[in-house]
Amino acid sequence: MNKNNPIGMVDSGVGGLTVIKAAQKQLPNEQFIFIGDTARMPYGPRTTDEVIAYTLQMANFLVNEKHIKLLVIACNTATARALSVLQDQLSIPVIGVIQPGAKAAQLATKNKKIGVIATQGTVTSEAYDVQLHHYNSQITVVSQAEPEFVQTVELNKYHSDEARKLVNSHLTSLKAAKIDTLILGCTHFPLLTPFIKSAIGENVTLIDSGQETVQVIQDCLAQSHLSTVSKHDHNDDVYYTTGDPVLFKAIATDWLEREKTLDVRQLKIV
Ligand code: SIN
Repeated sequence: MNKNNPIGMVDSGVGGLTVIKAAQKQLPNEQFIFIGDTARMPYGPRTTDEVIAYTLQMANFLVNEKHIKLLVIACNTATARALSVLQDQLSIPVIGVIQPGAKAAQLATKNKKIGVIATQGTVTSEAYDVQLHHYNSQITVVSQAEPEFVQTVELNKYHSDEARKLVNSHLTSLKAAKIDTLILGCTHFPLLTPFIKSAIGENVTLIDSGQETVQVIQDCLAQSHLSTVSKHDHNDDVYYTTGDPVLFKAIATDWLEREKTLDVRQLKIV
């Protein structure tokens, strides 16, 4: 495998942009190719078989056409449902976002009460509960599905007053549960961080599962001797969407705070 090949990232939509933003900052010389499966999102209510099939389809495109050296599943639902299948089927390293988020949360909590907000698929999978209890069986996990948060972000409404009110009204029971740590168990949710912080209270530590994954990517590149030896510029990064490239580009340009035009392309695999 050529060390200078790109890193692939896949998500159900725009949420994975929160992961690529952190990765671009920490890994300035790597090239990234991102796919957001906006045409088939949300993945949260989909069956395990559907999530596996869609994630595998994107992964195969990146492996066969783009020759990626490592794949990041920048989506909690796809990590919960498809990580082990992709790790078995692909010959490159595959990294998910759940284990790094759970690891950071169990280190952060003092009262051992951790909240998880995620999609219904991730909550039902109990993937965070399993990981957190693997670290410490005394941890109480309070999980809540928040599918409307995903739609609010995908519709580019995450700065709106409507979004603030939605987040405020949905987090009251988690606040009452006296958690001291909250895992943003969906990569879309960091785009709502200011509203989540104000609703849950400044004393609750927020864990961005995607951001925590970046260190795992860096460690994996080093251990597999796959760190690039050439210097890429993140203006070379390519963003594919299976949905509307105009909406995708508007969200990506705002979230990634890029002055230069992003290379957003439509991917017709649907
Ligand atoms: C969704 O598509 O429902 C959100 C994906 C995620 O879990 O990050």
